[in-house]
Amino acid sequence: KLSPVIAPSILSADLARLGEDVQRVLGAGADWVHFDVMDNHYVPNLTFGPTIAEALRKYGVTAPLDVHLMVEPVDALAQSFAKAGASLISFHPEATRHIDRSLQAIKAAGCQSGLVFNPATPLDCLKHVLDKVDLVLIMSVNPGFGGQSFIPEALNKLRAARALIDAHQDASGREIRLEIDGGVKIDNIREIAAAGADTFVAGSAIFGAGDYAATIRAMREEIAK
Ligand code: DX5
Ligand code: ZN
Repeated sequence: KLSPVIAPSILSADLARLGEDVQRVLGAGADWVHFDVMDNHYVPNLTFGPTIAEALRKYGVTAPLDVHLMVEPVDALAQSFAKAGASLISFHPEATRHIDRSLQAIKAAGCQSGLVFNPATPLDCLKHVLDKVDLVLIMSVNPGFGGQSFIPEALNKLRAARALIDAHQDASGREIRLEIDGGVKIDNIREIAAAGADTFVAGSAIFGAGDYAATIRAMREEIAK
């Protein structure tokens, strides 16, 4: 089993002091920075683009940048994020015409690639592209906003994705991470981990807490139980 990764979503960070807040959360023990990109087209909200990712790199953020694209189309922006310093780039399969091509383009640009599944989107396409995927992201809210409640059905989706990933990993030896995004808190992270997630996005639960380190520590303790 892969070591757990905590990826705070900067959607809930102090955006007027983004660099400072990101360094603070990393200093508090976070592993990755989860970067939610919204275009007011694929999702009904608007956030930030590659210039902000580049600014974080210039500010001195060296942790993996986990870019979650909620945009349509995917390919041009994915390339811009690769140039801006993204480490992983994930997109929603329904947002691109050619899933396999989009995955290949991300890998060719030197990043790890991920596919994101909305609460009601089946995992069907996954089995055809598992050899090109480094991360599978299961949405436990409908994308577009932070601070929503966890949709419990996501636990079944996690178990299904875990089975597909394990079968593929056994055959190929390649590591694929299983990430969960939406409504993750200290009090539900244990059952989420038990359902198979190894990578945990949390926005409001971490940035909404006064003590980032205590929150991240409590999450790790729950995962380890
Ligand atoms: C939702 C985003 C999430 C969101 C999570 O579209 O993909 O990353 O910021 O926020 P919380 O943890 O507050 O649900
Ligand atoms: Zn996200």
